[in-house]
Amino acid sequence: MDFMEVVRNRRSVRKFWPEEVVWPDIEEILDAAHLAPSAKNLQPWKFIIVRNEKRRRLLAQASGQEFIGEAPVIVVACATGKGGFIGRYMESWPIDVAIAMDHLTLAAWNKNLGTCWIGDFDENKIKEICSIPEEIRVVALTPLGYPVKNPQPTPRRPLEKVVSQETYS
Ligand SMILES: Cc1cc2nc3c(=O)[nH]c(=O)nc-3n(C[C@H](O)[C@H](O)[C@H](O)COP(=O)(O)O)c2cc1C
Repeated sequence: MDFMEVVRNRRSVRKFWPEEVVWPDIEEILDAAHLAPSAKNLQPWKFIIVRNEKRRRLLAQASGQEFIGEAPVIVVACATGKGGFIGRYMESWPIDVAIAMDHLTLAAWNKNLGTCWIGDFDENKIKEICSIPEEIRVVALTPLGYPVKNPQPTPRRPLEKVVSQETYS
């Protein structure tokens, strides 16, 4: 797909076919994720691929969002490298993992696979379900699978409202 076509047509998908996603496709999507830029090139990420149905259901419960358990795959995106900073005060790990996740969602869409950023979950429960060590942070989850249908586009603020020239206005 053309890059802008992928960006324009991507949607958050919340209904999936149970059809399996083959490993080479998952691998290509993860490849796109791990090629993302990161502050000082620290690459503070780890992606856990969950395909086991029981574990998927537990992750869905821990996020209170049952639909994610219906997808054949859930990706749990973790931050491994706390301590990196952008400037003096802004920690870089959530930003780095978010950029990698965006690569992942776009690469998935390019293969006709849907995702949905899940930011609302009980982190301690997710850690328990996936045996994630205490010092590691869970940044996001996403289901991954073939969309039942393409959701309608969600609105965006007009470009002229979010861009200004030279100074903030
Ligand atoms: C940081 C972040 C957290 C989000 N958390 C959730 C979530 O917990 N559950 C959910 O269904 N969607 C979640 N979303 C998806 C947004 O609702 C969605 O991206 C937004 O409405 C725009 O729709 P679109 O992705 O289809 O363009 C989240 C998105 C982001 C970027």
